[in-house]
Amino acid sequence: MPQILRLYLWHSLFYTYYDIMKIIFATHNPNKLREIQEMIGNSYQVLGLNDIDCHEEIPETAETLEGNALIKSSYVYDHFNMNCFSDDTGLEVASLGGAPGVYSARYAGEACKAEDNMQKLLEELQDVENRDAQFRTVISLIIDGKKYFFEGVVKGEITTQKSGQDGFGYDPIFQLKGFNKTFSEMSSTEKNEISHRGIAVRKLIDFLKNYSS
Ligand code: IMP
Repeated sequence: MPQILRLYLWHSLFYTYYDIMKIIFATHNPNKLREIQEMIGNSYQVLGLNDIDCHEEIPETAETLEGNALIKSSYVYDHFNMNCFSDDTGLEVASLGGAPGVYSARYAGEACKAEDNMQKLLEELQDVENRDAQFRTVISLIIDGKKYFFEGVVKGEITTQKSGQDGFGYDPIFQLKGFNKTFSEMSSTEKNEISHRGIAVRKLIDFLKNYSS
């Protein structure tokens, strides 16, 4: 039997036998899902939207990260009656009044690429002295009908040009305070240890590990 199938069967049996608590992460992204399951360990079984046959793109229509995260977790809780968490992240630039913020993914337009977003931001900040910025992740958790929020923030600045090949989104132009390289020039392990998402996820995990209904 192939190793991957054996691992899959072992996991299914383990979770069924021990009746581990299931929790939904409102994402279609298998990488985000795997990463969080590894961090939570065996105390919860984390399922994604595809695992519960939810194939919709839940519309993110709120004007805040908290609002968008809550829309996604509420959608799952209300339609599937399962405990659920979801995340939303934005890059907030001080001299732009917190923009692009909740619109980070579509700063340069609805179907734009990360390249377009970075280009637009670099143009907006041309000749601007204050380049302070922060990444902020908000996680919304609904468990047994109660709502909780967890936040992760990292402060830094927007560089004047792109550097680095790795990462995604605005990584090539974001430099964390106290570092002389961009997120894009860090390994993913190094970034995850200090990132906004890592901070918020660790707060969520601490809460879940100590949670009893
Ligand atoms: P999401 O809420 O995780 O989908 O993030 C929304 C948008 O914020 C992404 O499409 C990226 O443009 C940006 N973003 C989120 N996290 C990061 C990060 O760690 N590095 C760079 N850009 C990010």
